[in-house]
Amino acid sequence: IRVAILISGRGSNMQALAETVATEGLPVDICAVLSNRADAAGLDWARARGLPAEVLAHRDFDSREAFDAALRTRLDALAPDYILLAGFMRVLGADFVRHFDGRIVNIHPSLLPAFPGLHTHEQALAQGVQWHGCTVHFVTPVLDHGPIIAQAAIPVCADDTPESLAARLLPVEHRVYAQTLRWLAQGRVRLGTDGRVSVEGAS
Ligand code: GRF
Repeated sequence: IRVAILISGRGSNMQALAETVATEGLPVDICAVLSNRADAAGLDWARARGLPAEVLAHRDFDSREAFDAALRTRLDALAPDYILLAGFMRVLGADFVRHFDGRIVNIHPSLLPAFPGLHTHEQALAQGVQWHGCTVHFVTPVLDHGPIIAQAAIPVCADDTPESLAARLLPVEHRVYAQTLRWLAQGRVRLGTDGRVSVEGAS
């Protein structure tokens, strides 16, 4: 399968995906690592690895619609089977999402549907939940609400801070996203007409 990975910053999830492809020899062609920010640290890592790193700076466009249109044109040319959002911090418009319906996947640092949006670790601590986690899901026009592909949970400790929670969750995110990519590469992920995801061969 062909995948484009969209980042905005550090890109550690992108790195975990790329490492998984390389070390396991997955049949995955990473056709682009695309950032909306030229200063994203993940771009340097991708370039050093010989991955095709590209910048499409949202600041170069007058409106969200114009940026979405340019991103859509670029991705149409790349023709990925899946667009994997990995710390991509731009909200994609409904037209963009519908155009790539069922092909955009995101990782979100909470157990959705709890805590959509930003500052998920602060939200979790403020609510006093005992379990936190991450969710890999298909992207729909409603932010952080799409069909769930995979989740993993971590316990919240009494002395946790947003930073400690984020640090403990990050390697879990990497594992869950890597697992999702394996399933996608194996063609095992089905998005049903009922908006639910099933993974063939998974219990
Ligand atoms: C991750 O926690 C991801 O879930 C969230 O932003 C962070 C990105 O980290 N959306 P990285 O750029 O993948 O290192």
